[in-house]
Amino acid sequence: MADLAYPADLTDGTVRLRPWTPGDLPCIEQAATDPRIPENTSVPARYSPEEGLAFIHRQHQRLTSGQGVSLAISHHATGEALGLVILQPRPQSGVAGLGYWVVPAARRHGLASRAVGLMTEWALGRYARIEAWVEPGNDASRYVLAENGFQCEGVLRSFLVIGPRRADMLVYSRIRD
Ligand SMILES: CC(C)(COP(=O)(O)OP(=O)(O)OC[C@H]1O[C@@H](n2cnc3c(N)ncnc32)[C@H](O)[C@@H]1OP(=O)(O)O)[C@@H](O)C(=O)NCCC(=O)NCCS
Repeated sequence: MADLAYPADLTDGTVRLRPWTPGDLPCIEQAATDPRIPENTSVPARYSPEEGLAFIHRQHQRLTSGQGVSLAISHHATGEALGLVILQPRPQSGVAGLGYWVVPAARRHGLASRAVGLMTEWALGRYARIEAWVEPGNDASRYVLAENGFQCEGVLRSFLVIGPRRADMLVYSRIRD
């Protein structure tokens, strides 16, 4: 990944994207209760403090191993972690993939939209193309991407294994002007 380092300060005054800390365990615990998040990510399906700390450790390892930048979506005023946004390089030069989740209790307050906006602006300074893969029925995620100027380019049929099934994925992208 180009310029592999955590961003200095990514905030819009409402959310702040920052590295994960051990104080963020309650966020991991809440994420583990969601049916979709553990199925699609390395959030443990059965939470324990040990599993939660291992998750946080893996997020920092992504940076040191060159696999990506994983940041907590935190509330700017309180510092509380409420979600995750991650950027991961794809094999193609200048292309990175975007992923995100927000804990169930904090949804529909615009947190994902804000976080994706901040991360995308930062990422487009380093990558020519940012892409995201979304299941066709994931209306909230499609809304977040459209809100941030991502274009839907089509459907990748039977593209990912999610839990016990194969799923189609819509591919969305934003490119550097
Ligand atoms: C997708 C996700 C990150 C959205 O987080 P969020 O913080 O609630 O998103 P925002 O509040 O910025 O925007 C959500 C918008 O989507 C729409 N939306 C939300 N839930 C919806 C639903 N069930 N059906 C239709 N539209 C929905 C709404 O328009 C909402 O905005 P509004 O309430 O202001 O009208 C969150 O639902 C999540 O973590 N889901 C599980 C993990 C996941 O799917 N991650 C994305 C993988 S590609």
